[in-house]
Amino acid sequence: MPPAAAKAVAQPLAAAAPPMPAREPAPATPPASAAEPPRPVRSPTAVAPAVRRSENFYDVKTTVFSALIDTIDLSQLARLDTESAREEIRDIVNDIIALKNIAMSIAEQEDLLEDICNDVLGLGPLEPLLARDDIADIMVNGAQRTYIEVGGKVEETGVRFRDNTQLMNICQRIVSQVGRRVDESSPICDARLPDGSRVNVIAPPLAIDGPTLTIRKFKKDKLTLDQLVKYGTITPEGATILQIIARSRCNVLVSGGTGSGKTTLLNCLTRYIDNTERIITAEDAAELQLQQPHVVRLETRPPNIEGEGEVTMRDLVKNCLRMRPERIIVGEVRGPEAFDLLQAMNTGHDGSMGTLHANSPREALSRIESMITMGGFSLPSKTLREMISTSIDVVVQAARLRDGSRKITHITEVVGTEGDVIITQDIFLYDIAGEDAAGRILGRHRSTGIGRPRFWDRARYFGEEKRLAAALDAAEAEELVVAQG
Ligand SMILES: Nc1ncnc2c1ncn2[C@@H]1O[C@H](COP(=O)(O)OP(=O)(O)O)[C@@H](O)[C@H]1O
Ligand SMILES: [Mg+2]
Repeated sequence: MPPAAAKAVAQPLAAAAPPMPAREPAPATPPASAAEPPRPVRSPTAVAPAVRRSENFYDVKTTVFSALIDTIDLSQLARLDTESAREEIRDIVNDIIALKNIAMSIAEQEDLLEDICNDVLGLGPLEPLLARDDIADIMVNGAQRTYIEVGGKVEETGVRFRDNTQLMNICQRIVSQVGRRVDESSPICDARLPDGSRVNVIAPPLAIDGPTLTIRKFKKDKLTLDQLVKYGTITPEGATILQIIARSRCNVLVSGGTGSGKTTLLNCLTRYIDNTERIITAEDAAELQLQQPHVVRLETRPPNIEGEGEVTMRDLVKNCLRMRPERIIVGEVRGPEAFDLLQAMNTGHDGSMGTLHANSPREALSRIESMITMGGFSLPSKTLREMISTSIDVVVQAARLRDGSRKITHITEVVGTEGDVIITQDIFLYDIAGEDAAGRILGRHRSTGIGRPRFWDRARYFGEEKRLAAALDAAEAEELVVAQG
């Protein structure tokens, strides 16, 4: 090839295609509030999607992508290992950019390449979000809008899909990993990513504006009670009270809204279970990470495409009872399994625990009641309430406040029944006092002055009564100081 021609290809004319406008600088990460964990960022590319890319970027990408698809055999590519496939794509993409005279900086080219590799080899535009450890949830509302939850706050990202077809293909790729299919005839599907993240897909026609994907990201490093103290979710005294509750085999319900930290809290509580106990966990998607050696983990199963083979939470909890458990831990109680869990709590499996969705401890108890009645058990409500009050010892309430911080707002005991009313007493509370100029919630944790909670005898049996008394006193003394000051 004559040198001049080679030069023409190698140096695309800036005039031939408008240069891509420089992308806006990445927004400075907002200062992490003291109440939230630091936000590790794994690689520089991980930051990219926070940047809103220019229209031009997507146009260029579409052009290059179509040319790529015309050039290579995708099924062949799938047989290569990721590294070789990436190299292959890199070569071709560079050729295409040169041939089509697209002017791009090296950085833009890298960015484009990364994007295209993700599309072809992985979960497309989702990959950079999946690589970030600081994201709790990813919410995709059709091809054009993707939100994430970071540090308790929901924010929109610049991530976009080419169109709903691409998004649907990605959904398909995810659910096919668990042997399922999502399409117009079965538009709802739960699945799990290889890393353990939970995925829900709801597709058109049910989702009106395009395939909608919700991912609860799996955190490898679960938060500990010490970290919750550091983030201000609970005070050290509150944490001690929780430890004693877990250790001394109280039956516990962890209540809270979506994403309030229920599962995290349940996981923290399980750390204080003795190593000698046989624990059986039942979850919809295994999230709990118990440290003890003697643990059996069970998971429910959705029905298959033909609608068969479902194993419900109730099936699991009933089966647990035949497995000689010492404690049963139910990831999320949401239906008639509530009845079986209460029975377990009542029949020598004390120290059993579960989470449920409710906005206050009292609401949690009435939710349990309605789950049981709706499950078709016909018990007089007085009997049912007595059963609830004798089974459940403590309700721990978690909440995500409007500033994004997560707090334990109540540690509440179930005391008994009077007539057909369940009596509860708060031991430890979070009071909201107001809000500072930056919109952060101001408040404090305090003990309510109950010196001898009902689980006192249990605590004593486990040799924890001194620690309990000290924690309750300290939490109260703090209050007096505040009140006087
Ligand atoms: N106290 C906390 N402080 C900061 N982040 C938290 C806290 N509790 C939970 N998280 C994070 O919030 C997200 C949701 O927590 P999770 O326990 O799964 O909520 P839930 O089970 O109530 O839906 C997770 O990413 C978790 O790491
Ligand atoms: Mg949960």
